[in-house]
Amino acid sequence: MKISIIGSGYVGTVSAACFAELGHEVICIDIDEEKVRQINAGIPPIYEEGLEELMQKHAEHHLIATSDYDYAVANSDVSFICVGTPSGDDGSIDLSIVRAASASLGRVIAKKDGYHIVVVKSTVVPETTEKVVLSTIEEYSGKRAGKDFGIAMNPEFLREGKAIYDFMHPDKIVIGAIDKRTSVIVSELYRSLDCEITHTNPKTAEMIKYVNNSFLATKISFSNEIGNICKKLGINTYEVMQAVGTDFRISKSFLNSGAGFGGSCFPKDVKALIGKAKDIGYDPILLKSVIEVNEHQPLEMIKLLKAKLGDLTGKKIAVLGLAFKNDTDDIRESRSIPVIAELLRLGADVTAYDPMASDEMKKVFNNITYHISAAGALKDADACLLMTEWDEFRNLDSEFGLMKDSVVIDGRHMIVLEDIEQDIDYVGLCW
Ligand code: UDX
Repeated sequence: MKISIIGSGYVGTVSAACFAELGHEVICIDIDEEKVRQINAGIPPIYEEGLEELMQKHAEHHLIATSDYDYAVANSDVSFICVGTPSGDDGSIDLSIVRAASASLGRVIAKKDGYHIVVVKSTVVPETTEKVVLSTIEEYSGKRAGKDFGIAMNPEFLREGKAIYDFMHPDKIVIGAIDKRTSVIVSELYRSLDCEITHTNPKTAEMIKYVNNSFLATKISFSNEIGNICKKLGINTYEVMQAVGTDFRISKSFLNSGAGFGGSCFPKDVKALIGKAKDIGYDPILLKSVIEVNEHQPLEMIKLLKAKLGDLTGKKIAVLGLAFKNDTDDIRESRSIPVIAELLRLGADVTAYDPMASDEMKKVFNNITYHISAAGALKDADACLLMTEWDEFRNLDSEFGLMKDSVVIDGRHMIVLEDIEQDIDYVGLCW
């Protein structure tokens, strides 16, 4: 089938490449001419494992890019909205880009014959697809949903760094359509994937996405709260969660206590759901506590550090790990950010190392010293904080010998004391 995809960010580009791989003809629409040029040259505008190979394989054949909405929509049967839905200042969702894309689609659908289908893949709060996207397209096209065009919501469940794999090996495909015709056509796009499709209505599909992410975030904050209690009792929370996770109703995944969750999704999505709940007159106490625990957790690292070193003024502290998780340069909502801010506020001299994310973090903090190796950051340090689960940090040993004092606060359960020879003053965050 012929697909147009609005927005060539993380979700749009991955979806475009994977739909092309599934045998569809894909046109990416983006207002950024540089992104358009990159895609047509088979160059991915973002990094994702396996993305470049797919884009080079399909560039200029099954995958092209343009900034021309008219051309893209006129030459496709289905248009996916994959634009950003950032957080507003109060944490609620900002739908301005979704509205703009819907208006642009409406203007083109006004001139198009046939039953064009619009699918929302951006993460939007419940009721957005019908009350914002559908109504805006009707307004700008002068046509009627269900009669002249179709509308559906089809959320993604892609992990950053594993997005291509997750798209091609989904554990669920959710299609929330306004009518059967739309549902059948959108389902057809995924025909060659071996996965059951959940058919529902748009707002239920929107809610499934938010609940999926919010529950994962809740598991993490729950594990962190239990971890903080275990720490005070001298119990290793990893031993506790290892046993608890054997309960098939719980599963072992996402029970790793540590410095908390970051990324462009969990914090944004939980806050957006909180905002939506409040809008409809419900006070989401538990969801608010998930965010509260996560905002507090990085500061537990500082509390443990101060217990060891006392006043941090002038102390040299090495922060190992800046990205919100391993294998990415993405620092959005990284738990390193509040840790570095607090260290600076307390007068510490901060050194930092991350295999990929230093350049991104320099845009946030230009008053710390960045190194190109862990050894560089650790040299003459009074203490170090392990903030991101990079595999290379699991092998640190002799590098700790470069430190002036050897306090190591581990925020990601990276160091196995029995496996290292260097004598260090090790403190686990929740273990
Ligand atoms: C997440 C969801 O996994 C994905 O399904 C959704 O589509 C987008 O959001 P992502 O944000 O890429 O994906 O990262 P993920 O791998 O889920 O990790 C999120 C954060 O949680 C990271 O900061 C990670 O360090 C942290 N985490 C994860 C924990 O602290 N403990 C855990 O047990 C698991």
